[in-house]
Amino acid sequence: MTEQTIVVGDVHKKTIDNLESKKDKESYIEYRKEFRSASNFSNIKKYPIHLDIEIDNFCNFACTFCPIGQPENELHDQYKTIKKLDKNKVFNILEEAKKIGVKSIQFSLVNEPLTNKNLFEYIQYANKLNFCDIQIVSNAYLLNEKNAEKILNSGLKKIQFSLDAFSSKTYSERRLKNNKPANYEKTIKNLLNFLEMKKKSKKIFPIVKVSFIEMEENIHEKQDFYKFWSEKVDAIHYQKLIDYTETKKKNNLKKVYKCNMPMFRLAIKADGGVKPCCVSLGEKINLGNINKEKLFDIWNSKQMKKFQQMHLNEDAHKNEHCLKCINHTS
Ligand SMILES: C[S@@+](CC[C@H](N)C(=O)[O-])C[C@H]1O[C@@H](n2cnc3c(N)ncnc32)[C@H](O)[C@@H]1O
Ligand code: SF4
Ligand code: SF4
Repeated sequence: MTEQTIVVGDVHKKTIDNLESKKDKESYIEYRKEFRSASNFSNIKKYPIHLDIEIDNFCNFACTFCPIGQPENELHDQYKTIKKLDKNKVFNILEEAKKIGVKSIQFSLVNEPLTNKNLFEYIQYANKLNFCDIQIVSNAYLLNEKNAEKILNSGLKKIQFSLDAFSSKTYSERRLKNNKPANYEKTIKNLLNFLEMKKKSKKIFPIVKVSFIEMEENIHEKQDFYKFWSEKVDAIHYQKLIDYTETKKKNNLKKVYKCNMPMFRLAIKADGGVKPCCVSLGEKINLGNINKEKLFDIWNSKQMKKFQQMHLNEDAHKNEHCLKCINHTS
């Protein structure tokens, strides 16, 4: 979705080819057009094209590379208490988002969406409102048969499963559950069962992606990962590692840089805070709070416009959090 990611597999063509009505196909084509021109900085809309909604801040894992699994990291503090967006608030956000022109919704940020008992109601409502894209990102640990069935019948358009490994050893060194290595075999079994159920039901949606954060520890598994999963899923998403720890002080490497996320996206945290991107370092950039302000007003505020302009001027380093983000992304 950004310069930090590479997706192998054309998920958008597959979506367009398989949408049922001509109207839905046209809307999706228009959404992708809007997305392309905003993300290449040429036409910023009066609304964010994509919205991340962190329905709560809870996760059943504590991965070593994620702020949730980094108790020594100041970004971790917010996860010490569980926060949830009010259920009616989520419905209100979806209604406003639809009204102002938002095309794509993701019901996850720094959390595990399958732990939230309202998730499927939210997805169904977003589907009823006919957003072009409805997505979640999940660690697949709770992808049991019951959840698999619900996902297949929910109206979800895309789902990404984060794996980052092709062996139990590599997986369990980085992905922890209750301070113990998470069970790789369980995750893979869940995912293969889900894919089998999807095949049997002859459903195209949700489009399935698996993701792989490229790290020193797993890079030797990248090829095998590709060989195995490319035959089974619709796309593979390679991500760059963002080093959220302070171990590498690299903040003096200022460089000319513009980030495209603030051109098309807003992210709502579980406490209502609104941020310009899905990267945890961007959580320190406060653009407003959805419990007090309208989405449209936050997006069109002087503060947001100034932030976008700073990026358009290739001055991302002028914001200390963006500077850190640039210098901590591999
Ligand atoms: C924060 S997770 C939330 C969803 C879910 N819990 C999961 O792990 O899939 C969303 C995505 O961010 C990725 N991620 C987490 N920490 C990262 C880091 N330090 N650098 C790059 N990507 C990261 C995860 O691998 C996942 O694909
Ligand atoms: S499963 Fe996702 S949200 Fe949870 S700790 Fe790991 S990367 Fe973070
Ligand atoms: S922190 Fe700044 S540079 Fe990093 S993704 Fe967010 S907006 Fe872009």
